[in-house]
Amino acid sequence: MTNRYEEDYRLSIRDPERFWGTQAEAIDWHRPCDRVLDDSRKPFTRWFPGGELNTCHNALDRHVARGRGRQAALIYDSPVTGTVRAYTYEALRDETARFAGVLAALGVRRGDRVVIYMPMIPEAVIAMLGCARLGAVHSVVFGGFAPPELAVRIDDAAPKVVVSASCGIEVNRLIPYKPLLEAALARASAKPERCLIVQRPMHRAELTPGRDLDWEEAMARAAPHECVPVRATDPLYILYTSGTTGLPKGVVRDNGGHAVALHYTMGAIYGMQPGEVYWAASDVGWVVGHSYIVYGPLLKGCTSILYEGKPVGTPDAGAFWRVIAQHGVRCLFTAPTAFRAIKREDPRGEMLRRYDLSGFRALFLAGERLDPDTLRWAQRLLGVPVIDHWWQTETGWAIAGNCLGLHAFPVKEGSATKPAPGWDLQVLGPDGQPLPPGQIGALVARLPLPPGTLTTLWNNDAGFLKSYMEEFPGCYKTADAGFIDEEGYVYVMSRTDDIINVAGHRLSTGAMEEVLADHPDVAECAVLGVEDPLKGQVPIGFLVLKAGVDRPPEQIVREVIQMVRDRIGAVASFKTATVVKRLPKTRSGKILRGTIQKIADNRPWKMPATIDDPAILEEIREALQSLGYAKPQGA
Ligand code: COA
Ligand code: AMP
Repeated sequence: MTNRYEEDYRLSIRDPERFWGTQAEAIDWHRPCDRVLDDSRKPFTRWFPGGELNTCHNALDRHVARGRGRQAALIYDSPVTGTVRAYTYEALRDETARFAGVLAALGVRRGDRVVIYMPMIPEAVIAMLGCARLGAVHSVVFGGFAPPELAVRIDDAAPKVVVSASCGIEVNRLIPYKPLLEAALARASAKPERCLIVQRPMHRAELTPGRDLDWEEAMARAAPHECVPVRATDPLYILYTSGTTGLPKGVVRDNGGHAVALHYTMGAIYGMQPGEVYWAASDVGWVVGHSYIVYGPLLKGCTSILYEGKPVGTPDAGAFWRVIAQHGVRCLFTAPTAFRAIKREDPRGEMLRRYDLSGFRALFLAGERLDPDTLRWAQRLLGVPVIDHWWQTETGWAIAGNCLGLHAFPVKEGSATKPAPGWDLQVLGPDGQPLPPGQIGALVARLPLPPGTLTTLWNNDAGFLKSYMEEFPGCYKTADAGFIDEEGYVYVMSRTDDIINVAGHRLSTGAMEEVLADHPDVAECAVLGVEDPLKGQVPIGFLVLKAGVDRPPEQIVREVIQMVRDRIGAVASFKTATVVKRLPKTRSGKILRGTIQKIADNRPWKMPATIDDPAILEEIREALQSLGYAKPQGA
């Protein structure tokens, strides 16, 4: 007997046009598409060409028109400001329409870009939806990035307007955003015409006359704007993510495929019904925030939680249980690191006893490998399914998971369960040939990719082809390595490039190396990710100094740590570096990062045959030990 997962999965692979064509019926179209899938310009797949729709209409107005106007669309829960505020679908539509009016009055039109650099406040969601309403393309930049990272994104997207706020709040620390924005604008060459600033009551920013506008004043003057129909294939947003070099990649998402896919996943993967409460404890600056704080839950007619706080410290390790109980959350999505943080503070889960979680149905985790300890702890504590699912900024939704809305498979530790419908996953060897079950290789998806995935990189079709489509022709390269077992369960083991995952945040070690290499005393450097009990991975740096440098190494280390913080941001969590005499390399000069990483994590490693001088690895091991890594077993 087949189950619903198998039915959906088979049809989605055998006849993607029919499968996604049926799913598209759940979305309101201004004009129906000419065809579901246009694959005539492979690998640039276009979903629903000829179709016209508006994503904001589908996320808000449609629900108001169908009687959900008084249901909460968004609940802003901010322990850091002591605020809980609900927006009904009607209220969120009205605010968004007004904000779209603000943008329109500033000359923003369909296709124009708007950069959003904001903390987790409702105005961030309103700004995103306001852009979608006008057919403008938003590019949200995570608040934890430093000015140079923001500047690079501004230059690439060339926005007409930047939307920001006076400050963010990190637990009990106020972070003024405006100076960061000013520093970024000073560096950027593509200067926006206008900046819209939300003045938060705890800190007011100084506005630059003629360029900056106060959000509240602009809203008071604005007339609401209708939804502008756009082509299904028009971009909805750009979201920059770490690439293998210091330059981030602008992932482009379309309107039509995105709306159809996210609507489908809310039911199929998360098992959500309209009217229920869904919570993605992430940040609007990440893909999880785009897909499952903003668009997914609203497209489905759910209530979404916008949480401005942390799993611990705001005020304690019971914060997540409080939010779930208080708002009747059915399904929580976060990163394993958040659960490790809670487990560390409240290992016996005593805080949980204070709250009624009887309506809570499932916990979904993603962003990094889910370690078995955390999985078991969460299972025991919560008594609900704990689901590991695997995805990427590029894909916008899960490549593999346990699709609770279709069929709940038994959980296997270390596995993200099965490929989601739409994903024809394969494991390939270095020769591009499929590997048998159980063997580790490159995880790739056969084309066409399902709707809602990246359509290209912003202004960079060549980069799109090079990064994802060229190495394995006919397939999308995920840059993750892993295997699929005899029963079709997917195991994601590691990245095949220089990306590391720090507290669920994706970072490029190459980008950090570029910063270190800029220090005047550094001749050579290497950054790699080592295991961390809380954050999963953290970066550590090795520095080789230029001949003749006689400044104290500790001072140089302090300086490079500060440089990474200033140039990439606090989010990089770059707090450890050490000076070594030399770096271990192959005879052809490649730094043996993988070997250093294994030594640091105390994993088995072999002396590489191509190493030019084996003694260097001993020096590196000693350096790692002095930093608290590479501990002998049992130490
Ligand atoms: N604006 C400014 N600074 C920010 C920021 C923001 N939006 N977000 C994080 N930072 C800063 C933090 O304050 C911290 O600064 P510090 O080094 O001065 O302490 C630094 O960036 C690192 O942040 P983070 O990695 O989040 O570590 P943390 O110690 O503050 O918190 C956790 C650890 C586990 C509680 C936290 O990472 C967490 O909640 N993770 C959830 C996972 C998540 O949201 N993943 C997203 C994908 S699902
Ligand atoms: P991001 O683009 O920030 O979502 O990061 C994507 C990367 O995070 C993936 O390529 C994986 O390396 C990693 N990742 C995400 N989810 C999982 C998971 N469930 N298991 C293992 N790794 C994951």
